Amino acid sequence: TFELSLRPQTLLQYIGQDKVKNNLEIFIEAAKQRRETLDHVLLYGPPGLGKTTLATVIANEMGVNIRTTSGPAIERPGDLAAILTALEPGDVLFIDEIHRLPRSIEEILYPAMEDFCLDIVIGKGPSARSVRLDLPPFTLVGATTRAGAISAPLRDRFGVLARLEYYTEQQLTDIVIRTAEILNTKIETIGAIEIARRSRGTPRIANRLLRRVRDFAQVRGNGVITKSLADHALELLQVDRLGLDHIDHKLLKGIIEKFRGGPVGLETIAASIGEEAETIEDVYEPYLLQIGFLQRTPRGRIVTNLVYHHFQMEVPTNIS
Ligand code: ADE
Repeated sequence: TFELSLRPQTLLQYIGQDKVKNNLEIFIEAAKQRRETLDHVLLYGPPGLGKTTLATVIANEMGVNIRTTSGPAIERPGDLAAILTALEPGDVLFIDEIHRLPRSIEEILYPAMEDFCLDIVIGKGPSARSVRLDLPPFTLVGATTRAGAISAPLRDRFGVLARLEYYTEQQLTDIVIRTAEILNTKIETIGAIEIARRSRGTPRIANRLLRRVRDFAQVRGNGVITKSLADHALELLQVDRLGLDHIDHKLLKGIIEKFRGGPVGLETIAASIGEEAETIEDVYEPYLLQIGFLQRTPRGRIVTNLVYHHFQMEVPTNIS
């Protein structure tokens, strides 16, 4: 469909993540030469960096179908058994948020990953017996925001571990220009740079901001995304010069105003600003850590001087 074609279909079209891309290119080529399935792949890194897209690209490059599910969607062993037995030889099985798979279901995955077989128990009580079913060979592609949240036995069964990194401003600019072309929207290069700069290293954010700025250009302008139009629209969207949004601000100002800049524990700050601790940890913190606005210490989170400068606040002197 049209929406899907927004996403790159091949490694060549995929912008950024050069290390991961170059390695995958070799592994895919080698597997194809041997007429084997690709080894299982674990993709990890902050949300929005292209894990799902990459899974689709892998399937496409291997010339196989992709089946998509997620950790929380698989509740009972039968759910996973149904998915595994419906696979065709060589298929990619994509499990998003794989760190949220229940442990009892992980254990079914081990023999499936290692030997392509499924051990199922038929019946109950003394007459229960175990049967072993053969599965078609397949490639599991798992995605998680936190590699550390995956159990060691599961992690060890992936042959390829790939960490996705935040994108550079240049890469995001290229992505914004590519997406604008697909959306049939005229954009000045410096307009694209402005959107890229405020996208927190994240293509999903860049493409979302592009759509919103395009709305402003269409209704308030002449349809062309210029730098000044982008600036104006992004200000109305409450996305600041560094791409920090309303929730980033609430988090950073909360630590400053309620906890004197920290240290403060994750659960405490989450409760005090009314956000989920897990969302803060997986979605907001990684970028703030990356740009040096937050630090993690054994006693909790602290904001750095950069935050005071960004908000044009006076840096407190240490009189503990
Ligand atoms: N759209 C979103 N992410 C992309 C990427 N990494 N390359 C090309 N287009 C994209």
